[in-house]
Amino acid sequence: MNFDEYIDRREYPTLKWRAAFLNEHFGNPDAIPMSVADMDFKAPPAVIARLGQRAAHGVYGYGYRPEGYFGALLAWYRDRYGWEIAREHLVPSPSILNAMAILINQHSERGNGVILQPPVFFEFRMVIRRNHRRVVKNPLRLVDGHYEIDFEDLERKAADPNNKILILCSPHNPVGRVWQREELEQVAAICRRHGVFVIADEIHGDFALPPRQFVPYLSVADGENAAACISPAKTFNISGLVEAFTIIPNAAHRQAFRAFMEQYFLDRVHVFGVEAVEAAYRDGGAWLDALLAYLRGQVDFIRAYLQRADIGVSLIEPEGTFLAWLDFRGLGLEAKALEQFLAHEAQIALAQGYWFGREGAGFGRMTIACPRQTLERALNNLRAAVLARRARGGT
Ligand SMILES: Cc1ncc(COP(=O)(O)O)c(C=O)c1O
Repeated sequence: MNFDEYIDRREYPTLKWRAAFLNEHFGNPDAIPMSVADMDFKAPPAVIARLGQRAAHGVYGYGYRPEGYFGALLAWYRDRYGWEIAREHLVPSPSILNAMAILINQHSERGNGVILQPPVFFEFRMVIRRNHRRVVKNPLRLVDGHYEIDFEDLERKAADPNNKILILCSPHNPVGRVWQREELEQVAAICRRHGVFVIADEIHGDFALPPRQFVPYLSVADGENAAACISPAKTFNISGLVEAFTIIPNAAHRQAFRAFMEQYFLDRVHVFGVEAVEAAYRDGGAWLDALLAYLRGQVDFIRAYLQRADIGVSLIEPEGTFLAWLDFRGLGLEAKALEQFLAHEAQIALAQGYWFGREGAGFGRMTIACPRQTLERALNNLRAAVLARRARGGT
Protein backbone atom coordinates (compact mmCIF):
# COMPACT_ATOMS: atom_id res chain seq x y z
CA MET A 1 0.00 0.00 0.00
CA ASN A 2 2.45 2.58 -1.15
CA PHE A 3 0.35 5.33 -2.66
CA ASP A 4 3.48 7.37 -3.32
CA GLU A 5 4.66 4.84 -5.91
CA TYR A 6 4.61 6.14 -9.48
CA ILE A 7 3.21 3.54 -11.86
CA ASP A 8 3.60 4.05 -15.59
CA ARG A 9 0.06 3.57 -16.85
CA ARG A 10 1.05 4.16 -20.47
CA GLU A 11 2.38 0.60 -20.50
CA TYR A 12 -1.20 -0.54 -21.21
CA PRO A 13 -4.01 1.18 -23.13
CA THR A 14 -5.30 3.63 -20.50
CA LEU A 15 -7.84 6.27 -21.39
CA LYS A 16 -6.69 8.93 -18.93
CA TRP A 17 -3.05 8.76 -20.05
CA ARG A 18 -3.68 8.27 -23.79
CA ALA A 19 -1.85 10.92 -25.80
CA ALA A 20 -4.65 11.01 -28.41
CA PHE A 21 -7.23 11.59 -25.65
CA LEU A 22 -5.21 14.42 -24.12
CA ASN A 23 -4.70 15.89 -27.54
CA GLU A 24 -8.36 15.70 -28.44
CA HIS A 25 -9.64 17.26 -25.22
CA PHE A 26 -6.81 19.59 -24.27
CA GLY A 27 -4.73 20.06 -27.42
CA ASN A 28 -1.71 19.00 -25.36
CA PRO A 29 -0.59 15.34 -25.18
CA ASP A 30 1.96 16.27 -22.48
CA ALA A 31 -0.45 17.86 -20.01
CA ILE A 32 -0.50 16.05 -16.63
CA PRO A 33 -3.59 13.77 -16.86
CA MET A 34 -6.01 14.64 -14.06
CA SER A 35 -9.36 14.75 -15.83
CA VAL A 36 -10.61 11.15 -15.80
CA ALA A 37 -12.04 9.94 -12.49
CA ASP A 38 -9.94 6.86 -11.90
CA MET A 39 -6.88 6.39 -9.68
CA ASP A 40 -3.21 6.06 -10.55
CA PHE A 41 -2.89 3.55 -7.70
CA LYS A 42 -2.77 -0.23 -7.72
CA ALA A 43 -5.89 -2.09 -6.61
CA PRO A 44 -5.89 -3.71 -3.14
CA PRO A 45 -3.29 -6.49 -2.81
CA ALA A 46 -6.07 -9.06 -2.27
CA VAL A 47 -7.55 -8.18 -5.68
CA ILE A 48 -4.21 -8.41 -7.46
CA ALA A 49 -3.49 -11.79 -5.85
CA ARG A 50 -6.90 -13.20 -6.74
CA LEU A 51 -6.71 -12.02 -10.34
CA GLY A 52 -3.25 -13.55 -10.63
CA GLN A 53 -4.60 -16.89 -9.47
CA ARG A 54 -7.56 -16.67 -11.80
CA ALA A 55 -5.35 -15.78 -14.75
CA ALA A 56 -3.03 -18.71 -13.95
CA HIS A 57 -5.96 -21.10 -13.99
CA GLY A 58 -6.03 -20.57 -17.73
CA VAL A 59 -9.65 -21.48 -18.47
CA TYR A 60 -11.96 -18.49 -18.99
CA GLY A 61 -15.24 -19.97 -20.14
CA TYR A 62 -18.72 -18.92 -18.99
CA GLY A 63 -18.93 -18.16 -15.30
CA TYR A 64 -21.61 -17.20 -12.81
CA ARG A 65 -21.80 -15.04 -9.71
CA PRO A 66 -21.58 -17.33 -6.65
CA GLU A 67 -23.44 -16.52 -3.45
CA GLY A 68 -20.12 -15.71 -1.74
CA TYR A 69 -19.74 -12.81 -4.14
CA PHE A 70 -23.06 -11.28 -3.11
CA GLY A 71 -22.36 -12.14 0.52
CA ALA A 72 -19.10 -10.17 0.48
CA LEU A 73 -20.91 -7.10 -0.88
CA LEU A 74 -23.79 -7.32 1.61
CA ALA A 75 -21.33 -7.70 4.51
CA TRP A 76 -19.34 -4.67 3.32
CA TYR A 77 -22.40 -2.38 3.42
CA ARG A 78 -23.64 -3.84 6.69
CA ASP A 79 -20.29 -3.56 8.46
CA ARG A 80 -19.22 -0.14 7.16
CA TYR A 81 -22.54 1.69 7.00
CA GLY A 82 -24.98 -0.35 9.07
CA TRP A 83 -27.05 -0.75 5.93
CA GLU A 84 -28.85 -4.06 5.50
CA ILE A 85 -29.42 -4.55 1.78
CA ALA A 86 -31.90 -7.32 1.05
CA ARG A 87 -30.18 -9.87 -1.19
CA GLU A 88 -33.18 -10.12 -3.51
CA HIS A 89 -33.17 -6.34 -4.15
CA LEU A 90 -29.71 -6.47 -5.71
CA VAL A 91 -29.42 -6.69 -9.50
CA PRO A 92 -25.95 -6.75 -11.13
CA SER A 93 -25.34 -4.80 -14.32
CA PRO A 94 -22.29 -3.99 -16.45
CA SER A 95 -22.06 -0.35 -15.36
CA ILE A 96 -23.88 2.41 -13.56
CA LEU A 97 -24.61 4.40 -16.69
CA ASN A 98 -26.14 1.42 -18.37
CA ALA A 99 -28.37 0.80 -15.34
CA MET A 100 -29.31 4.46 -15.34
CA ALA A 101 -30.31 4.35 -19.01
CA ILE A 102 -32.61 1.41 -18.28
CA LEU A 103 -34.16 3.11 -15.22
CA ILE A 104 -34.80 6.27 -17.24
CA ASN A 105 -36.57 4.26 -19.94
CA GLN A 106 -38.59 2.40 -17.36
CA HIS A 107 -39.73 5.37 -15.29
CA SER A 108 -40.38 8.08 -17.88
CA GLU A 109 -41.57 8.64 -21.42
CA ARG A 110 -39.86 10.31 -24.35
CA GLY A 111 -39.84 14.07 -23.86
CA ASN A 112 -40.23 13.90 -20.06
CA GLY A 113 -37.95 15.89 -17.80
CA VAL A 114 -35.16 14.36 -15.68
CA ILE A 115 -33.93 16.62 -12.88
CA LEU A 116 -30.19 17.12 -12.34
CA GLN A 117 -28.31 19.13 -9.75
CA PRO A 118 -25.52 20.91 -11.62
CA PRO A 119 -22.66 21.37 -11.61
CA VAL A 120 -22.82 17.58 -11.89
CA PHE A 121 -21.15 14.60 -13.62
CA PHE A 122 -21.53 15.40 -17.32
CA GLU A 123 -22.45 11.89 -18.47
CA PHE A 124 -25.82 12.23 -16.72
CA ARG A 125 -26.71 14.78 -19.36
CA MET A 126 -25.63 12.35 -22.06
CA VAL A 127 -27.65 9.46 -20.72
CA ILE A 128 -30.75 11.68 -20.53
CA ARG A 129 -30.36 13.11 -24.04
CA ARG A 130 -29.44 9.83 -25.72
CA ASN A 131 -32.65 8.43 -24.30
CA HIS A 132 -34.68 11.36 -25.66
CA ARG A 133 -35.58 12.92 -22.33
CA ARG A 134 -35.08 16.55 -21.31
CA VAL A 135 -32.54 17.84 -18.79
CA VAL A 136 -34.24 19.92 -16.08
CA LYS A 137 -31.87 21.77 -13.78
CA ASN A 138 -32.09 22.21 -10.05
CA PRO A 139 -28.73 23.96 -9.64
CA LEU A 140 -26.84 23.65 -6.38
CA ARG A 141 -26.27 26.90 -4.49
CA LEU A 142 -22.78 27.96 -3.51
CA VAL A 143 -23.05 29.64 -0.12
CA ASP A 144 -19.85 30.77 1.62
CA GLY A 145 -17.72 28.22 -0.23
CA HIS A 146 -20.18 25.40 0.51
CA TYR A 147 -22.63 23.81 -1.92
CA GLU A 148 -26.24 23.26 -0.88
CA ILE A 149 -29.36 21.83 -2.45
CA ASP A 150 -31.94 24.49 -3.37
CA PHE A 151 -34.97 22.71 -1.90
CA GLU A 152 -37.50 25.36 -2.90
CA ASP A 153 -36.43 25.10 -6.51
CA LEU A 154 -36.44 21.29 -6.27
CA GLU A 155 -40.02 21.38 -5.00
CA ARG A 156 -41.03 23.56 -7.97
CA LYS A 157 -39.30 21.30 -10.49
CA ALA A 158 -40.66 18.13 -8.90
CA ALA A 159 -44.20 19.58 -8.90
CA ASP A 160 -44.17 19.86 -12.71
CA PRO A 161 -45.98 16.67 -13.82
CA ASN A 162 -43.73 16.40 -16.86
CA ASN A 163 -40.68 15.85 -14.65
CA LYS A 164 -40.54 12.19 -13.66
CA ILE A 165 -37.07 11.46 -12.33
CA LEU A 166 -34.35 12.99 -10.13
CA ILE A 167 -30.76 11.81 -10.51
CA LEU A 168 -29.17 12.35 -7.12
CA CYS A 169 -25.37 12.19 -7.09
CA SER A 170 -24.46 11.12 -3.55
CA PRO A 171 -21.67 11.87 -2.72
CA HIS A 172 -21.66 14.60 -5.32
CA ASN A 173 -19.26 14.59 -8.27
CA PRO A 174 -17.67 17.13 -8.78
CA VAL A 175 -18.36 19.39 -5.76
CA GLY A 176 -17.51 16.77 -3.12
CA ARG A 177 -20.56 17.13 -0.91
CA VAL A 178 -21.50 14.05 1.12
CA TRP A 179 -25.22 14.58 1.60
CA GLN A 180 -26.33 14.15 5.17
CA ARG A 181 -29.42 12.47 6.58
CA GLU A 182 -31.54 15.65 6.92
CA GLU A 183 -30.77 16.67 3.35
CA LEU A 184 -31.64 13.22 2.00
CA GLU A 185 -34.84 13.20 4.06
CA GLN A 186 -35.89 16.47 2.47
CA VAL A 187 -35.14 15.17 -1.02
CA ALA A 188 -37.13 12.01 -0.27
CA ALA A 189 -40.10 13.98 1.11
CA ILE A 190 -40.26 16.28 -1.91
CA CYS A 191 -39.98 13.43 -4.41
CA ARG A 192 -42.57 11.36 -2.56
CA ARG A 193 -45.02 14.29 -2.55
CA HIS A 194 -44.77 14.67 -6.31
CA GLY A 195 -44.27 11.06 -7.42
CA VAL A 196 -40.77 11.70 -8.76
CA PHE A 197 -38.62 8.56 -9.08
CA VAL A 198 -35.17 8.96 -7.50
CA ILE A 199 -32.06 7.36 -8.98
CA ALA A 200 -29.37 7.68 -6.30
CA ASP A 201 -25.94 7.30 -7.87
CA GLU A 202 -23.73 6.25 -4.96
CA ILE A 203 -20.63 5.20 -6.87
CA HIS A 204 -18.54 7.54 -4.67
CA GLY A 205 -20.18 6.31 -1.45
CA ASP A 206 -17.01 4.71 -0.09
CA PHE A 207 -15.12 8.01 -0.37
CA ALA A 208 -16.56 9.99 2.52
CA LEU A 209 -13.51 11.57 4.13
CA PRO A 210 -13.56 11.03 7.92
CA PRO A 211 -15.18 12.38 10.02
CA ARG A 212 -17.89 12.70 7.33
CA GLN A 213 -20.05 9.61 6.97
CA PHE A 214 -21.81 8.30 3.92
CA VAL A 215 -25.56 7.92 4.36
CA PRO A 216 -27.12 5.55 1.77
CA TYR A 217 -30.25 7.09 0.25
CA LEU A 218 -32.27 3.89 0.62
CA SER A 219 -31.48 3.81 4.33
CA VAL A 220 -33.40 7.09 4.57
CA ALA A 221 -36.11 6.86 1.88
CA ASP A 222 -38.75 4.14 1.73
CA GLY A 223 -37.53 2.83 -1.63
CA GLU A 224 -40.93 2.24 -3.24
CA ASN A 225 -40.15 4.92 -5.82
CA ALA A 226 -36.37 4.85 -5.91
CA ALA A 227 -33.32 2.84 -6.92
CA ALA A 228 -29.70 3.11 -5.84
CA CYS A 229 -26.73 2.48 -8.10
CA ILE A 230 -23.65 1.20 -6.31
CA SER A 231 -20.37 -0.09 -7.64
CA PRO A 232 -16.93 -1.26 -6.53
CA ALA A 233 -15.38 0.35 -9.64
CA LYS A 234 -14.14 3.60 -8.11
CA THR A 235 -13.60 2.28 -4.59
CA PHE A 236 -11.03 -0.33 -5.56
CA ASN A 237 -9.89 1.20 -8.86
CA ILE A 238 -11.32 -1.63 -10.93
CA SER A 239 -13.44 0.39 -13.37
CA GLY A 240 -11.76 -1.50 -16.22
CA LEU A 241 -13.38 -4.67 -14.87
CA VAL A 242 -16.91 -3.37 -15.10
CA GLU A 243 -19.40 -4.57 -12.50
CA ALA A 244 -22.13 -2.47 -10.92
CA PHE A 245 -25.30 -3.13 -8.96
CA THR A 246 -28.73 -1.60 -8.84
CA ILE A 247 -30.77 -1.90 -5.68
CA ILE A 248 -34.46 -1.90 -6.47
CA PRO A 249 -36.72 -2.50 -3.47
CA ASN A 250 -40.02 -2.43 -5.41
CA ALA A 251 -40.70 -5.92 -6.80
CA ALA A 252 -42.54 -4.78 -9.94
CA HIS A 253 -39.83 -2.25 -10.77
CA ARG A 254 -37.20 -4.90 -10.24
CA GLN A 255 -38.96 -7.37 -12.56
CA ALA A 256 -39.18 -4.73 -15.26
CA PHE A 257 -35.50 -3.86 -14.84
CA ARG A 258 -34.48 -7.51 -15.13
CA ALA A 259 -36.65 -7.86 -18.23
CA PHE A 260 -34.74 -4.98 -19.85
CA MET A 261 -31.41 -6.60 -18.95
CA GLU A 262 -32.54 -9.85 -20.52
CA GLN A 263 -33.98 -8.16 -23.59
CA TYR A 264 -30.58 -6.66 -24.41
CA PHE A 265 -28.53 -9.63 -23.15
CA LEU A 266 -26.77 -7.50 -20.56
CA ASP A 267 -26.61 -10.23 -17.95
CA ARG A 268 -23.30 -11.77 -19.03
CA VAL A 269 -20.71 -12.49 -16.36
CA HIS A 270 -17.09 -11.34 -16.55
CA VAL A 271 -15.04 -14.04 -14.82
CA PHE A 272 -12.26 -11.66 -13.78
CA GLY A 273 -14.80 -9.11 -12.55
CA VAL A 274 -16.43 -11.70 -10.28
CA GLU A 275 -13.11 -12.59 -8.64
CA ALA A 276 -11.98 -8.98 -8.26
CA VAL A 277 -15.24 -7.81 -6.71
CA GLU A 278 -15.49 -10.63 -4.19
CA ALA A 279 -11.84 -10.25 -3.10
CA ALA A 280 -12.19 -6.47 -2.84
CA TYR A 281 -15.31 -6.50 -0.70
CA ARG A 282 -14.03 -9.35 1.46
CA ASP A 283 -10.44 -8.17 2.04
CA GLY A 284 -10.18 -4.56 0.84
CA GLY A 285 -11.29 -2.70 3.98
CA ALA A 286 -7.87 -1.92 5.47
CA TRP A 287 -6.59 -0.85 2.06
CA LEU A 288 -9.53 1.55 1.65
CA ASP A 289 -8.94 3.05 5.11
CA ALA A 290 -5.29 3.68 4.19
CA LEU A 291 -6.38 5.20 0.89
CA LEU A 292 -8.82 7.57 2.61
CA ALA A 293 -6.03 8.73 4.93
CA TYR A 294 -3.82 9.37 1.89
CA LEU A 295 -6.60 11.31 0.15
CA ARG A 296 -7.17 13.38 3.29
CA GLY A 297 -3.44 14.21 3.11
CA GLN A 298 -3.82 15.24 -0.55
CA VAL A 299 -6.68 17.58 0.31
CA ASP A 300 -4.74 19.15 3.20
CA PHE A 301 -1.74 19.54 0.90
CA ILE A 302 -3.73 21.37 -1.80
CA ARG A 303 -5.44 23.67 0.68
CA ALA A 304 -2.15 24.66 2.34
CA TYR A 305 -0.37 25.02 -0.99
CA LEU A 306 -2.99 27.31 -2.49
CA GLN A 307 -3.20 29.44 0.65
CA ARG A 308 0.55 29.87 0.68
CA ALA A 309 0.86 30.49 -3.07
CA ASP A 310 -1.84 33.19 -3.00
CA ILE A 311 -2.46 32.95 -6.77
CA GLY A 312 -6.20 33.58 -6.84
CA VAL A 313 -7.13 29.86 -6.91
CA SER A 314 -8.92 28.18 -4.02
CA LEU A 315 -10.18 24.78 -3.01
CA ILE A 316 -13.84 24.04 -2.40
CA GLU A 317 -13.39 21.85 0.65
CA PRO A 318 -14.45 18.29 -0.30
CA GLU A 319 -16.26 16.13 2.22
CA GLY A 320 -15.72 13.11 0.01
CA THR A 321 -14.68 11.69 -3.41
CA PHE A 322 -11.13 11.73 -4.80
CA LEU A 323 -11.81 14.88 -6.77
CA ALA A 324 -10.85 18.45 -5.94
CA TRP A 325 -13.16 21.19 -7.19
CA LEU A 326 -10.97 24.22 -7.67
CA ASP A 327 -12.24 27.76 -7.91
CA PHE A 328 -10.33 29.68 -10.59
CA ARG A 329 -12.69 32.65 -10.75
CA GLY A 330 -10.06 34.83 -9.10
CA LEU A 331 -7.99 34.59 -12.31
CA GLY A 332 -10.65 36.55 -14.15
CA LEU A 333 -10.64 34.28 -17.21
CA GLU A 334 -13.79 33.23 -19.01
CA ALA A 335 -14.36 29.49 -19.47
CA LYS A 336 -12.58 28.92 -22.79
CA ALA A 337 -9.65 31.16 -21.89
CA LEU A 338 -9.29 29.29 -18.59
CA GLU A 339 -9.30 25.98 -20.44
CA GLN A 340 -6.50 27.20 -22.71
CA PHE A 341 -4.54 28.60 -19.80
CA LEU A 342 -4.72 25.35 -17.80
CA ALA A 343 -3.90 23.04 -20.70
CA HIS A 344 -1.16 25.06 -22.38
CA GLU A 345 0.36 27.41 -19.82
CA ALA A 346 -0.06 25.29 -16.68
CA GLN A 347 0.11 21.99 -18.66
CA ILE A 348 -2.50 20.26 -16.54
CA ALA A 349 -5.49 18.38 -17.91
CA LEU A 350 -8.45 19.04 -15.60
CA ALA A 351 -12.11 18.32 -16.26
CA GLN A 352 -13.29 21.82 -17.10
CA GLY A 353 -15.95 23.23 -14.84
CA TYR A 354 -18.31 24.14 -17.68
CA TRP A 355 -18.42 20.45 -18.77
CA PHE A 356 -20.56 19.95 -15.64
CA GLY A 357 -23.04 22.61 -16.75
CA ARG A 358 -22.70 26.37 -17.06
CA GLU A 359 -22.94 26.53 -13.25
CA GLY A 360 -19.39 25.10 -13.20
CA ALA A 361 -17.81 27.79 -15.37
CA GLY A 362 -14.72 29.25 -13.70
CA PHE A 363 -14.02 25.99 -11.84
CA GLY A 364 -12.04 22.86 -12.65
CA ARG A 365 -12.08 19.30 -11.34
CA MET A 366 -8.76 17.73 -10.47
CA THR A 367 -8.47 13.98 -9.84
CA ILE A 368 -6.24 13.79 -6.78
CA ALA A 369 -5.92 10.00 -6.58
CA CYS A 370 -2.32 10.18 -7.72
CA PRO A 371 1.05 10.12 -5.94
CA ARG A 372 1.79 13.26 -3.93
CA GLN A 373 4.66 13.99 -6.28
CA THR A 374 2.33 14.23 -9.29
CA LEU A 375 -0.02 16.49 -7.37
CA GLU A 376 2.83 18.74 -6.29
CA ARG A 377 4.12 18.93 -9.86
CA ALA A 378 0.66 19.98 -11.07
CA LEU A 379 0.38 22.67 -8.40
CA ASN A 380 3.90 23.92 -9.13
CA ASN A 381 2.96 24.16 -12.81
CA LEU A 382 -0.17 26.09 -11.94
CA ARG A 383 1.64 28.49 -9.66
CA ALA A 384 4.41 29.14 -12.20
CA ALA A 385 1.85 29.75 -14.96
CA VAL A 386 -0.11 32.27 -12.87
CA LEU A 387 3.07 34.09 -11.86
CA ALA A 388 4.29 34.18 -15.47
CA ARG A 389 0.96 35.59 -16.53
CA ARG A 390 1.11 38.23 -13.83
CA ALA A 391 4.64 39.16 -14.90
CA ARG A 392 3.30 39.67 -18.43
CA GLY A 393 0.70 42.02 -17.02
CA GLY A 394 -2.29 39.59 -16.98
CA THR A 395 -4.38 38.96 -13.88
C1 LIG B 1 -21.10 9.96 -10.37
C2 LIG B 1 -20.66 8.92 -11.35
N1 LIG B 1 -21.53 8.02 -11.81
C3 LIG B 1 -21.18 7.06 -12.69
C4 LIG B 1 -19.89 6.97 -13.17
C5 LIG B 1 -19.55 5.93 -14.17
O1 LIG B 1 -19.90 4.68 -13.70
P1 LIG B 1 -19.83 3.42 -14.66
O2 LIG B 1 -18.43 3.37 -15.21
O3 LIG B 1 -20.15 2.25 -13.78
O4 LIG B 1 -20.86 3.62 -15.73
C6 LIG B 1 -18.94 7.89 -12.71
C7 LIG B 1 -17.56 7.84 -13.22
O5 LIG B 1 -16.85 8.83 -13.20
C8 LIG B 1 -19.33 8.88 -11.78
O6 LIG B 1 -18.46 9.77 -11.29
